[in-house]
Amino acid sequence: MEKPWHMLTPMRVILVSASSGGKDNFMPASWCFPLSFDPPLFGVAISPKRFTFGMVRESGEFVLNVPGAELKEKVEKYGRHSGRDCDKFAESGLTREKSEKVGAVSIKECLASIECKVVGEHEAGDHVVFVGRVQNIRERKNGKGLYQTGSAIVGL
Ligand SMILES: Cc1cc2nc3c(=O)[nH]c(=O)nc-3n(C[C@H](O)[C@H](O)[C@H](O)COP(=O)(O)O)c2cc1C
Repeated sequence: MEKPWHMLTPMRVILVSASSGGKDNFMPASWCFPLSFDPPLFGVAISPKRFTFGMVRESGEFVLNVPGAELKEKVEKYGRHSGRDCDKFAESGLTREKSEKVGAVSIKECLASIECKVVGEHEAGDHVVFVGRVQNIRERKNGKGLYQTGSAIVGL
């Protein structure tokens, strides 16, 4: 039972973006899931080790951006680098887009962005599940998504 979550892959990979303390950042997350139709709720499990964690906790907001398959290399790279040490937007060439209903920025190149306000926080072992209530959904285009299968990321 080294990595039991591998049993549930492929899992869709999203980019969680957050803004706090004058900084914008994003991180790939595959532990992200719908929780409720009404009200519309999503959960995302974020380790307290991530820079994004403190930003979501401080601001009470996040955006779930759905990357298309063409963003594979960037998703891989920024799943290994922390926003503590670099400005991921400046480095990656991904574009900040003002969200409609939350202060956290969205990512323009993604297929869609789901703007959420945190309505709950649940400790779950070495991750914290942030429960976000959907404030706005921006759908930009259709395309293949990115999925984590074991330790690889594939476009499907
Ligand atoms: C495909 C993939 C999925 C990931 N899923 C999660 C996740 O669901 N939760 C999490 O806390 N970290 C996850 N990570 C790790 C973070 O993305 C990674 O540690 C990142 O560098 C954190 O950036 P930050 O310090 O700027 O927040 C994932 C990484 C990859 C590559």
